[in-house]
Amino acid sequence: MALERTLSIIKPDAVGKNVIGAIYNRFESTGLRIVAAKMMHLSKEQAEGFYAEHKERPFFGALVEFMTSGPIMVSVLEGENAVLRHREIMGATNPSEALAGTLRADYAETIDENAVHGSDAVESAAREIAYFFSDEEICSRTR
Ligand code: PPS
Repeated sequence: MALERTLSIIKPDAVGKNVIGAIYNRFESTGLRIVAAKMMHLSKEQAEGFYAEHKERPFFGALVEFMTSGPIMVSVLEGENAVLRHREIMGATNPSEALAGTLRADYAETIDENAVHGSDAVESAAREIAYFFSDEEICSRTR
């Protein structure tokens, strides 16, 4: 199995619910390792840049407004098949479709405010990690 990295964001709704530790516990208890982390309050420009691939979609403005509405916790997770495993822990984008026991089933209310973000592929993970972290900020035990 491949050792991968993926980008995790705990979104403003989940930070507001005070569940950063509970979410980190889910990651760690399934073997994912936190190798970088920072709390941020995104500017409009930062959020628009991060979600640029969605800029033509009808929900883009609301997504940017939500992601700039409060602090977020941005992390790099490392582990075997980290991208897919993280997505399994998160559950479906729409919490009404998320399996019981996933983060979105437990902490998200709606598709617009769905608690967590995770990279959807190894390639997008590399781009998203580089958007928030320099190489020096990633403290992998493999380095
Ligand atoms: S989709 O609909 O499956 O193509 O969505 P996806 O490409 O996985 O992710 C789109 C991101 O926008 C967020 N978002 C919404 N998606 C769909 N519909 C609505 N109304 C909506 N509002 C916000 C969604 O959570 C994805 O963001 P991330 O941060 O990746 O979870």
